Amino acid sequence: MALPILSTQKAFLQEIWFNILTININRPKQEHIMSDAEALKKLAGEAACSYVKSGMNVGLGTGSTVKYTVLELGRRIKEEGLEIVGVPTSVATEELANEVGIPLVELGSIAGLDIVIDGTDEFDPQFQLIKGGGAALLREKIVAQQSASMVVVADGRKQVECLGAFGIPIEITPFSSDVTVRALEALLNCHVVLRSSEEQLILTDNGNCIADANIGATVDDPLLMEAQILNIAGVVQVGLFNDMCDVVVLANDGKVTTLVNPTGRL
Ligand code: 5RP
Repeated sequence: MALPILSTQKAFLQEIWFNILTININRPKQEHIMSDAEALKKLAGEAACSYVKSGMNVGLGTGSTVKYTVLELGRRIKEEGLEIVGVPTSVATEELANEVGIPLVELGSIAGLDIVIDGTDEFDPQFQLIKGGGAALLREKIVAQQSASMVVVADGRKQVECLGAFGIPIEITPFSSDVTVRALEALLNCHVVLRSSEEQLILTDNGNCIADANIGATVDDPLLMEAQILNIAGVVQVGLFNDMCDVVVLANDGKVTTLVNPTGRL
């Protein structure tokens, strides 16, 4: 037999029900929420698409900013008849490009790329970059080296006076990775850690490890540092991208600025 609800209990239950209703009515719908940082990434990622014209071979970078470039290029293919082929720099970008209908080709099957659009972790006043936050630096560098121009998409947090605070991501072989880490520590005089998640080593799309060199904002000669790091046998590639970036499409305070490298190709 059900027990009768007392009037105080009834009032209490009504209040809870009212609160649930109020909370649900006042809560903005999830799909409409975009943080300021995300809005800036979208702004930069989409604005960079103005460099892409029909007939171009386009390198497609990796990361949460250039994701918006890939989405926008997919939209232009569908809605505006843009004709391009793309070369992705990671499995993640390949999957996204396939989803949005960008025709993809092997880098070796074409004469070269007209442009690569990619994100960055830092860029300095000389347009030198640190990349590899998304562990895709090897493919990103291979693609960037085959491209006639490089446009970087970034928000204001990526602009620095001196490279290094982000750390330098370095792709290294799993074979004797500890030896390579020690050699990097001796060279750079800083702590170097193998990137992991939940105590599992992160492996790149190429089956390698990422060593992050916590060097601090001290990289005053990125070209020398790149050469020295590459000289260590276990190093596959380093996330210093020197003399590659022609333009940074920078989103800051709700607007986009295009920074053109005076010694660049665009
Ligand atoms: C991946 C990269 C990314 O381009 C870089 O980490 C920037 O990513 P995001 O736009 O997500 O900040 O180098 O290896």
